Amino acid sequence: MSNNYNPFLNFTETLDKAAKAIGMKLSEYEFLKHTESELKVTIPVRMDDGSTKYFDGWRIQHNTLRGPGKGGIRYSPDVEINEIKALAAWMTMKCAVANLPYGGAKGGVCVNPRDFSESEIERLTRKYAISISPVIGPQRDIPAPDLGTSAKHMNWIMDTYSTLEGVCVFGVVTGKDVDNGGSHGRHEATGRGVSLIAQEFMKMYGYSPKDSTIVIQGLGNVGGVSAECLYNMGCKIIAISDISGGIRNYNGLDIPSIMKFVKNKGLLKDYPNGDFERIDNAELLRTECTFLIPAALENQITKSNAGDINAKVVLEAANGPTTVAADEILFERNIPVLPDIMCNAGGVIASYCEWVQNINGSHWRIEEVNDTIDRYMTNALRNVLEIQRKYDITFRLAAYALALQRLTTSFRLRGFLA
Ligand SMILES: NC(=O)c1ccc[n+]([C@@H]2O[C@H](COP(=O)([O-])OP(=O)(O)OC[C@H]3O[C@@H](n4cnc5c(N)ncnc54)[C@H](O)[C@@H]3O)[C@@H](O)[C@H]2O)c1
Repeated sequence: MSNNYNPFLNFTETLDKAAKAIGMKLSEYEFLKHTESELKVTIPVRMDDGSTKYFDGWRIQHNTLRGPGKGGIRYSPDVEINEIKALAAWMTMKCAVANLPYGGAKGGVCVNPRDFSESEIERLTRKYAISISPVIGPQRDIPAPDLGTSAKHMNWIMDTYSTLEGVCVFGVVTGKDVDNGGSHGRHEATGRGVSLIAQEFMKMYGYSPKDSTIVIQGLGNVGGVSAECLYNMGCKIIAISDISGGIRNYNGLDIPSIMKFVKNKGLLKDYPNGDFERIDNAELLRTECTFLIPAALENQITKSNAGDINAKVVLEAANGPTTVAADEILFERNIPVLPDIMCNAGGVIASYCEWVQNINGSHWRIEEVNDTIDRYMTNALRNVLEIQRKYDITFRLAAYALALQRLTTSFRLRGFLA
């Protein structure tokens, strides 16, 4: 991330624009410019060689008006407070757009997991869980995986928190393994939701899956599952990338073979040469396509490359991949941007299903989870489209406006607004 990029400012600027578009006064939504609470922790971890290293970590609740905080835990060497604040705020908006009974929160640790052994990461995760235990809980704030974390980390957090409480508390985190209180369908949920939105927009814009070419940046949980779902739908995935670089074939890539390789912890740069050209991430973003799906990190489409984007539609699978300035350039160039807080909500909807199962001590079949995701995603899309048409604004501003309306209603009902 570039040093002067502040994603929380990106959030508040978009908030102001959306409020202005629907005639909402600052006094009605100013509470969303503040986080409710921010916990900063220092995590000492004993290394395998006997030395001790110290890691910075955070857990931030942006807003819990509509329910307990909900949001992932990110392990990345670039993690810093403004990034966590922005990610927490985007969760508030996303949960409101999806109409889930949750607020927004996020956590992170400044660490590159690839630099440490599994036992070092386990000790780090358990110590981090202890440090943030006073501010999390099934009715307080429910973490989940994000960049650099997975079901394994959630299992450790759930176990550590349960040990502290002296009872089994499955509902403290979501995204756990199915055999440890997790839910069927959670792993695929975000990518499935992304492909569902793509499918709906293909219908709207008159594309069939087989005429649609797709470019995906990031091949992790979200990008990888999106690639598989869209490939299975009949779309041509013409370029993909991960942190090590990308590959492109305008006639379509062999996604099943690539995913098999990547799931085995392979980086794309090591994928054996074949019927494709190797490209870097900058070139990937410039590739001509129907849907460009950034599914890696924030701040990828900026004012310096927005003029080069060659997609008919940008569908944001990652959180915050497009800056405010880039949004304006894409708008002027008539390239619609389908916003993260609508497109990647599948994961948090599945997390909601997992949490409800944990609290009720029940198990849902995968069909029940997928039906719930489809229902919530379709409703969110319908509600966003209504606002977009009513005010003739971008999809991002419409999604923000929907969240603003729902959040200010709660704020008013709680007695904070006249
Ligand atoms: N996992 C979820 O359910 C979920 C839900 C909503 C939003 N998100 C968001 O989606 C994004 C991806 O999350 P994930 O869970 O798939 O993470 P992940 O760690 O599983 O995968 C991230 C992918 O991005 C690639 N990547 C990292 N840096 C890159 C770079 N500079 N250029 C190109 N590729 C790069 C990695 O190699 C990897 O393939 C994040 O923004 C996350 O916040 C995730």
